[in-house]
Amino acid sequence: MKSIIIAIDGWSSCGKSTMAKQMAKELNYLYVDSGAMYRAITLYFLRQSVDFDKPKEIEKALAEIELDFRYNETSGQADMYLNDENVEYMIRDLIVAEKVSEVAAIKEVREFAVAAQQKMGEKKGVIMDGRDIGTVVFPKAELKIFMTADNAVRVERRFKEMIAKNPNVTIEEVAENIQMRDYIDSNREHSPLRQAEDAIVIDNTNLTREQQLKKALDLAKQAMR
Ligand code: DC
Repeated sequence: MKSIIIAIDGWSSCGKSTMAKQMAKELNYLYVDSGAMYRAITLYFLRQSVDFDKPKEIEKALAEIELDFRYNETSGQADMYLNDENVEYMIRDLIVAEKVSEVAAIKEVREFAVAAQQKMGEKKGVIMDGRDIGTVVFPKAELKIFMTADNAVRVERRFKEMIAKNPNVTIEEVAENIQMRDYIDSNREHSPLRQAEDAIVIDNTNLTREQQLKKALDLAKQAMR
């Protein structure tokens, strides 16, 4: 079996990360949550009150950012670190979610994140999920999956996840955020969310986690031959 790169792209909250994490575990691959990187950059920009319209401020802030993933013994997963601080919990907050698509649309931010992501894939054996992994980060990935699910299902899933952390969050807020992110992510000028021509679509609206995992693992095994 050869070592490959698996790119998983798709809309917000359609279960990409859940599936990618399960696949990485089964295949003993490195999992990279590229969205976490955009979220950590957004957190830094918010903390430093960076003006998103000022390229100089953006460049200065990016030069101060160091991102890395570190294994968390308790959860068995990698946490996002921003300048040596574990920000895994904070970056999932709605405050970050409300601004992340705007930040991820900035050309300098994309160049910074894509360069780091490509470096992580140098040795292959990687599963990365995001919006532009199969189109921009790894256009030659041996397997590209494009995930989708019905809107109402995506809202429901994300709402359940968020209410567990913040009991004040409403389903309307979550729906609005997902709709806004989908719009910005797929309409931005620089590497918008697109299905790569050679991507295989998995619609998981009516699939259990086990069913979708089996489908994806079958595809991975074929691609590794
Ligand atoms: O996957 P996520 O919801 O954590 O991603 C957060 C945001 O980051 C998403 O709304 C768009 C952006 N993103 C991106 O532009 N490109 C990626 N490869 C991953 C995420």
